[in-house]
Amino acid sequence: MSKKLGIGIIGSGGIARGCHMKSYAALPDRCEIVQVCDVNEDVARSAAAEFGVENVTTDYRELLANPAIDAVSVATPNKFHLDPTVAALKAGKHVLCEKPLGMNADECRQMCAAARDSGKILQVGLQQRFTGPARFLKSYIDSGQMGDVYYARAQALRRRGVPGWGVFIDKEKQGGGPLIDIGVHILDLTLFLMGYPKPVMALGSTYDHLGKNPDIYNGFGDYDRSKFTVEDFAVALVKFENGATVVLESSFMANIADQPLTSQLMGTKSGAIIRSSGDEPIVLYSEREKQLFDERPANIPRVDNPYLAEVDAFLKAIETGGPSPVPGENGLILNAIFDAIYRSSETGREEPIDVTF
Ligand SMILES: NC(=O)c1ccc[n+]([C@@H]2O[C@H](COP(=O)([O-])OP(=O)(O)OC[C@H]3O[C@@H](n4cnc5c(N)ncnc54)[C@H](O)[C@@H]3O)[C@@H](O)[C@H]2O)c1
Repeated sequence: MSKKLGIGIIGSGGIARGCHMKSYAALPDRCEIVQVCDVNEDVARSAAAEFGVENVTTDYRELLANPAIDAVSVATPNKFHLDPTVAALKAGKHVLCEKPLGMNADECRQMCAAARDSGKILQVGLQQRFTGPARFLKSYIDSGQMGDVYYARAQALRRRGVPGWGVFIDKEKQGGGPLIDIGVHILDLTLFLMGYPKPVMALGSTYDHLGKNPDIYNGFGDYDRSKFTVEDFAVALVKFENGATVVLESSFMANIADQPLTSQLMGTKSGAIIRSSGDEPIVLYSEREKQLFDERPANIPRVDNPYLAEVDAFLKAIETGGPSPVPGENGLILNAIFDAIYRSSETGREEPIDVTF
């Protein structure tokens, strides 16, 4: 048995505590949380206490100097992903960095370069691809049974779901609103299923009609409407080098009935819809003998906790020498698409997507 991996936590708020630390703590034979960092000392102390960790700091550089730490989770607001991630990789630590990887593609480029130079694992915290339905549909598509997937409609829509906590309404700290925050999950899942084709251009629009309005109800807690500087809805058409197209819709607030986190994929042989919740996570659409079939896979592999699966995959990549289960280069492609969508919304024109590494 190889030695347990020493883990450091940078940013110990909601996701760190609820998902990263919980998952590391659930794998005690393979890793141990050695030190916890948060700029807010009280937050760091209470997170550390919850998981029985003694060593606490408010400075991530101090944590990175700790030789007992092999790998870190970076779970800070988006604006603070870049510096700790690059510094960690330079210090020879593996990094699981929360999504979106950066505020923009340029930041991702720096993180990918640091990962390449160090030879350490850089994994982006995109857990949707670790669910049972995602694993099944990926192998179904890779086996050729859908033919070429040439179109997908990806939706991450909330009716009244502006996060009332954290900094999710602050463009300066997040880089954007629902597009970059929850659109990133469904776009990653969609592109993962499509084999991550190279995007070439996007035509997009963003809106902020509802999120700033103090008279509108919000289901995710209260927030200061005057500080709402992100979009509340975004839509885009993204074209890929291989001819495929994706239409992406994402909202924190919209006047709609359903609240899907869903991707509908169309292939030359068959199609599929994958949903993150509900009784029918996957339906496959095909034709045989001039009959149309809607099929529901009956024994999709069970993954109780995709966050645990994500951390398990991170540890496995470190233990076995890689590759990264969710490489930084995928994170860069996602951010480059968002950059083009935000630009397109301003210029009113289609914008090129630069994914050079
Ligand atoms: N994968 C998912 O499903 C998922 C869900 C929620 C959030 N997230 C991502 O996780 C990140 C954090 O979100 P959250 O909901 O946990 O936010 P949060 O506000 O609850 O926690 C962030 C913590 O980071 C700390 N922090 C800020 N700057 C720091 C720095 N330089 N060094 C150390 N600590 C610092 C803050 O004090 C705060 O405690 C974001 O990037 C978000 O997009 C991912």
